[in-house]
Amino acid sequence: MTSPMTTSRQGDILILTSDNPPVNALSNAVRQGLQAGIEEAKNDDSIKAVIITCAGKTFFAGADITEFTKGMQEPALPTLVDQIEALDKPVIAAIHGTALGGGCEVALASHYRIAVPSAKFGLPEVKLGILPGAGGTQRMPRVAGVETALELATKGDPISATQAQQVGLVDKLATEGNLLAEAIAYAQEVIGQPVSRSSERPVTVDTAVFETFRKTNAKRFRGLDAPATIIDLIEQTAGKPYGEGVQAERMGFMKLIMGKQSAALRHVFFAERKASKIDGIAEDVQLRPINRVGVIGAGTMGGGISMNFLSAGIPVTIVEMAQDALDRGTATIRKNYEATASKGKMTTEQVEGAMGILKPTLNFDDLAECDLIIEAVYESMDVKKDVFGRLDKIAKPGAILASNTSYLNVDEIAAATSRPQDVLGLHFFSPANIMKLLEIVRGAKTADDVLATAMALSKKIRKTAVIAGVCYGFIGNRMLMPRQVEANHLLMEGATPEQIDKVHVAFGMPMGPFQMADLAGVDIGWHRDPTRIENIRDALAAEDRWGQKKGAGYYDYDEKRTPSNSARVAELIEEWRGKLGATTHDITEEEIMVRTFYTMVNEGAKILEEGMAQRASDIDVVWVYGYGWPPYKGGPMYWADQEGLKKIVEGLEKYGFEVAPLLRKKAEKNEKFSK
Ligand code: CAA
Repeated sequence: MTSPMTTSRQGDILILTSDNPPVNALSNAVRQGLQAGIEEAKNDDSIKAVIITCAGKTFFAGADITEFTKGMQEPALPTLVDQIEALDKPVIAAIHGTALGGGCEVALASHYRIAVPSAKFGLPEVKLGILPGAGGTQRMPRVAGVETALELATKGDPISATQAQQVGLVDKLATEGNLLAEAIAYAQEVIGQPVSRSSERPVTVDTAVFETFRKTNAKRFRGLDAPATIIDLIEQTAGKPYGEGVQAERMGFMKLIMGKQSAALRHVFFAERKASKIDGIAEDVQLRPINRVGVIGAGTMGGGISMNFLSAGIPVTIVEMAQDALDRGTATIRKNYEATASKGKMTTEQVEGAMGILKPTLNFDDLAECDLIIEAVYESMDVKKDVFGRLDKIAKPGAILASNTSYLNVDEIAAATSRPQDVLGLHFFSPANIMKLLEIVRGAKTADDVLATAMALSKKIRKTAVIAGVCYGFIGNRMLMPRQVEANHLLMEGATPEQIDKVHVAFGMPMGPFQMADLAGVDIGWHRDPTRIENIRDALAAEDRWGQKKGAGYYDYDEKRTPSNSARVAELIEEWRGKLGATTHDITEEEIMVRTFYTMVNEGAKILEEGMAQRASDIDVVWVYGYGWPPYKGGPMYWADQEGLKKIVEGLEKYGFEVAPLLRKKAEKNEKFSK
């Protein structure tokens, strides 16, 4: 096999270039090549400086994650970075793309860093449940300061090259497209100068910073193992020598990588990438050009959907039926952008840029100019059919027609047109400009290029998309249903909303079923007839207890929306228990787990066997990105695998549920959902 590393000479400079697509991961072969290059520089007196750089789209984007389960072969990255730093000739890292994780650590160990302005720097290991294991927790504070190191290593989000330069992580910015030439010139400048080693730099910090950081981020780090370890390690740099710090880092790394959280988070990483692969579609399918998007409806959903495209620079035509609704919708979009700008996350020019490509209109026929049209109108089959019938008459040939329905049959909607091959579901989650998940609903007749175009577009608007089949509620909402039904039954059988929600929050969900109902609106899907009271939800809705927006739902809320247990809800529950003649019993945590979590897994198994999800890991992606399933528990199907499918089946049987055949079969064969 040929090595991904090549060496070349430019006078007395040795250039080490990695070409290991797609992301120049620091695989064993790359590490061997780098080590050989450093050895060569050490032993060859004619070499006066070394440049480490990468071909292709990026500098090293990290260790090779696929090697984690295979056991690390020598040279291990921690050894290699120390060898790079120890060289007594200047090593210059020339960076483009993303210098992430181990890649950032190679840069930190180099004596100088030159980068193009579009480059990004980050320590995303925490998102994989681990920590920067090649000196990153010890070198980053010494190079870029403790505050930057804490932010980068515990949150995992990258910073730009300009920000990196401000904190001292980048020494020099190069012109875009001219990186190597400028790196060579830079090397020539520094040849002969004594090398400055990151690990030898002192750290000065007010130690109160660490406690404050822990407190400020307590909520964000809830349930996670890695951030606490990372903060402890960075704290060590203030006082302890580098050698002790890296030893502690090594131990912390080994502990985390063998833990359950890291395994689950790595599962999510690969699951997310796998989700973008559409079964049965040729890889080279020609995509349809999307230069303008139409959105029907300027309400919360339509507005949020539009923002995704505007932010990505794709012009949007938004249609409403009445001027006041259109004005309100447009004003909300502007208000949301301005709120983002006031937090410093957008410039005024960017706000104006996005608003400048929004075309609000009352004229439905204006949609004729759009390549993709998404309807976000009232959730009723008749209304949707009418909209699609009208679209069929005016949309340009080849335009993609999408419904943002959460539940309805996309095939039936498509049948209202003469071009069902152009129709699909694009199910955004509320708030649509923020939530990462997009369910792409594949109709029976949806054309391959339509699906592939939607998938490619989802990346442009920075969504994580999953393909779902046509069934009531698709993947996410369909699995939510048994959970809600059981949560309500549990109330009648003796549980309280707080008791059930508490189990969900302790599990790691951002909120439980009743907290979610209060947030989303108890009135959603309600028949709107206060005299027709058939269950506890109707009773709450009839009393105007619509959730947070009304200050009352399953909980009472104060002006700051702080919830408290409601005496009125307790009364209503009691009343309904009486009406239904329900007998109550002590509800245990185990019963709540089985009836509200195992039932979701059971539904997931049905979705899989019906072919409504392409693979079990897609279901995990839906729950992690759409419903706040804790990523460190990998998603419901992955979690079920860890619990043991036999245990899930036994639990379901104990409480009288019909077990999905696929789940039973896998449990009997001792198989797992995830491969
Ligand atoms: N190792 C192995 N494979 C990787 C990888 C890595 N570090 N990073 C990405 N890939 C693979 C992906 O799985 C994907 O493979 P398929 O095409 O087979 O699905 C392919 O590379 C392309 O990745 P993306 O689809 O994500 O490409 P993108 O252009 O959208 O994003 C990226 C590129 C920003 C680099 C993104 O891939 C990413 O964030 N990668 C992970 C970076 C990371 O976590 N690095 C830290 C690794 S851990 C570490 O370094 C530990 C240490 O300290 C020793």
